[in-house]
Amino acid sequence: LRLISIQMCRPGMRLGKNIYNEKGLVLLGQNIELTQALIDRLDRTGISQLYVQDPRTEDIEIKELLTDETRVRAITEIRSSFRGLMDDNHNRRKTPSNQYLGRDFRKLMDLVLDDLSNHENAMIMLNTINITDHYLYQHSLNVCLYAAMLGMANGYTKDELMVLGLGALLHDIGKTQIPADILKKPGKLSEPEFDVIKTHTELGFKILKDAPNIPLISAHCAFQHHERLDGSGYPRQIEDKEIHEYAKWIGLVDVYDAMTTHRVYRKAMLPHQAIEILYAGAGTQFDQKKLECFRDRIALYPLGITVKLLTGETGVVVDINSSIPQRPVVRIITDADGQDLTQPYEIDLSKKLNVMIASVNDVIVK
Ligand SMILES: [Fe+2]
Repeated sequence: LRLISIQMCRPGMRLGKNIYNEKGLVLLGQNIELTQALIDRLDRTGISQLYVQDPRTEDIEIKELLTDETRVRAITEIRSSFRGLMDDNHNRRKTPSNQYLGRDFRKLMDLVLDDLSNHENAMIMLNTINITDHYLYQHSLNVCLYAAMLGMANGYTKDELMVLGLGALLHDIGKTQIPADILKKPGKLSEPEFDVIKTHTELGFKILKDAPNIPLISAHCAFQHHERLDGSGYPRQIEDKEIHEYAKWIGLVDVYDAMTTHRVYRKAMLPHQAIEILYAGAGTQFDQKKLECFRDRIALYPLGITVKLLTGETGVVVDINSSIPQRPVVRIITDADGQDLTQPYEIDLSKKLNVMIASVNDVIVK
């Protein structure tokens, strides 16, 4: 399997994994041959990368953190709960229905944590190939997976992971109460519009704080995830010691996921670019230790991704060195002149420190 950007897809390539629609049904089955019309359609739905088959990388086994079943269930659960709240808001119901949030999301969290426990020491790698009709749903799930993996890496107990995971899944639930035209506006928001967006923290807290079976700390994650160590966040400008540890984790991975996701108005950043930007805020916006932990756990170069070396050769990442994640093992498949190699060979970049990566999935590494 190879993971390539939508721009690198060519008619005739075959899909390496199923693609599901927003309701969790198989939209395109694995093995299906891509046509230009199909590629264009996927591009329009916001899919930025795809798994395709390639005989030279047949042996690469990409382990997803969640089983297909859990992933589909998660997306459909988040979607139906959030849509219910959006309808409440649209119909001007004074109190959004939060009755079953705790029950439903705890059940979901149990499944998620069960899946993740099989990958406790894995490098964190999320390759979104879900179609969702709202960015918020996928984002909520991603933030939950990042936060839970980091919690596991830090030895959190099952109960702690539940509280952190619920806080992460529901951190942006207040956005269901924001008018859709502001929430979905492509491009830059005006200051008054941004002020409206900012209220999603308090709105989320309001929905969660009295919801049955939702821990108060999870509700505080919604309240605090935009606060920053130096008091430059919102809504209350609280500082380091006043911000709950879980809200710090969520605030960190929230920004990361936003940067690495493809949106209508800007392209997705590569993991190492996003990490670099987060580091600019180390110690001021984000907790240094948490940032380091995240950097060490994230798969900067995910398995199956195409990299071009400065030497001009192109290869596919076939293994990640967990001690030096930024130096993966690359299988070279075309030579410096762009000719396909009949005998691909591998370079372990952790042993060849002079070999540099020039671009990843056609995006130049600076
Ligand atoms: Fe948020």
